[in-house]
Amino acid sequence: MDKFYITTAIDYVNGAPHIGHAYEKILTDIIARHYSQRTDNMFFLTGTDEHGIKIQKTAASKGITPKQLCDENAQKFKDAWKALDIKYNRFIRTTDEDHEKIVQKIFQKLKDKGAIYKHEYEGWYCSGCECFLNPKDLTEDGLCPDHQKKPDIVREENYFFKLSAYKDAIIKHIKENPDFIVPSFRANEVLNQLEDIQDISVSRSKENVGWGIDILDDPNQSIYVWIDALSNYITAIGYDPDGSSEQFKSLWPVDVHVIGKDILKFHSIYWIGILMALELPLPKHIFAHGWITIDETKMSKSLGNVVSPTSVLENFELEYPDAFRYYMATSAPCGRDGNYSDEDFKEKVNAHLANSMGNLLNRTLSMLVKYFDGEVKDEFFVTKNPELVEGSLSLIKESIGKIKVVENHFNHFEIAEAAQEIISIVDAANKYVTDNAPWTLAKEEKMTECGQVLTTVLEVMCVISSLIYPYCPNIATEMAKQLSYDITKKLDEITTDEIKPGKLITKEEIKPVFLRVDSELADKSAKK
Ligand code: ME8
Ligand code: MG
Repeated sequence: MDKFYITTAIDYVNGAPHIGHAYEKILTDIIARHYSQRTDNMFFLTGTDEHGIKIQKTAASKGITPKQLCDENAQKFKDAWKALDIKYNRFIRTTDEDHEKIVQKIFQKLKDKGAIYKHEYEGWYCSGCECFLNPKDLTEDGLCPDHQKKPDIVREENYFFKLSAYKDAIIKHIKENPDFIVPSFRANEVLNQLEDIQDISVSRSKENVGWGIDILDDPNQSIYVWIDALSNYITAIGYDPDGSSEQFKSLWPVDVHVIGKDILKFHSIYWIGILMALELPLPKHIFAHGWITIDETKMSKSLGNVVSPTSVLENFELEYPDAFRYYMATSAPCGRDGNYSDEDFKEKVNAHLANSMGNLLNRTLSMLVKYFDGEVKDEFFVTKNPELVEGSLSLIKESIGKIKVVENHFNHFEIAEAAQEIISIVDAANKYVTDNAPWTLAKEEKMTECGQVLTTVLEVMCVISSLIYPYCPNIATEMAKQLSYDITKKLDEITTDEIKPGKLITKEEIKPVFLRVDSELADKSAKK
């Protein structure tokens, strides 16, 4: 694999980040870190979407300028991603100067080509969606179905993008590329929406929406949010209608846009039409994840149940975000809705990360110290002594075989499914230890056999630490350290022979890689 380019949606900054935003960034970071284990040219883009009427209104209500509001809130997103170890390559803000300049050029290019035209229009505008709604999509009471709010009637002369001209080509592309929209069950929704697709408004009058990018040769209009927002995926890496950067040439087309299911239409219809008009290659995949609820209830400001991503770390006094990342990433099968609850969080991470995975490493290393003073002897290795203990060779082979299985899940953006495979290796290794009871072998003075069981588990732990690394980078790094294993290895470099013979560890160097999440803390946070 020569490169991997991945993006998230860019978040509106009229508030602070919540757990739904965090879910998407965690999924994306996990995919990005996994692909970093497969290529040296990985690029992960995230950022914030800062223009539009909603931000203008929120700023006005606070008595500050839109830019001040954006600066304040964009920082909150950056801080949250830092706390969650989201390791992006660029954080783009749509108010960044380089972005604004290129968006103006993109608009101009589309206008020069005749893909954008001016038109007097009256329609229903939902500021929640930041778009005009089709009257047939409103509820019986005339409300926006997503925001349960009455849209504003807007009568303006706007610029329109000739989306209808690309309708047939978009339909053809979706039908011919069954893995373009992930999960594939969402492709039908998109094809239905395409049936009555119309040209879309891509500007607003400056009088009504002042907070937007100016159109170069028309001072009365500003570029309206979606063309501005979607273009971030190309401006961020150096697209320029007059000649793009080397970086752009090496990274585009994007491998995957990770987005929520509510904005799939914008990405799989609007954005594709714009790219076709710009004559740029199309994204390889658009991955629409599901919705996160809190205790099975939709998050909303009015219900007061909006959970901030960092509050979970604080409530449980977590030193690292790993447990939260793991929980979020495994909260739903690919593309389905997930849920967060304190109780479930505690149970799952204690079972998977503390009891199964962490404990396995801890007790194996402790036995190595107890019986062999921390030394791995040559004759312990399965490669040297394959017939010695039944199941050793097959366990190692199985764990190496899982690397391809996990990669294959990642090829389809099945993050929770991949995690399940990793935990299944942990379970198999735990069963192997129980079946072979190294403590009994030691008692019976079958020391080579005992050493082989421990060494086999340590080999498997090397594979597990690489595979779990994208989800739990701190835990994996700590595991690798205690195994003297190089966690920066590419996945295709991992062998059945990662443990080095000789003294591996001392008693003092062994420490638990993940401490159980405390029940009392969860109860405290529930009472808050
Ligand atoms: O839509 N569960 O921004 P946004 C899961 N600026 N995902 C959620 C979620 C939840 N409860 N709530 C929001 C926008 N998201 C535009 C995007 S992209 C060029 C422009 C996801 O702040 C949502 O689906 O409303 C989207 O992918 C992202 O968070 C940002 O949402
Ligand atoms: Mg939204």
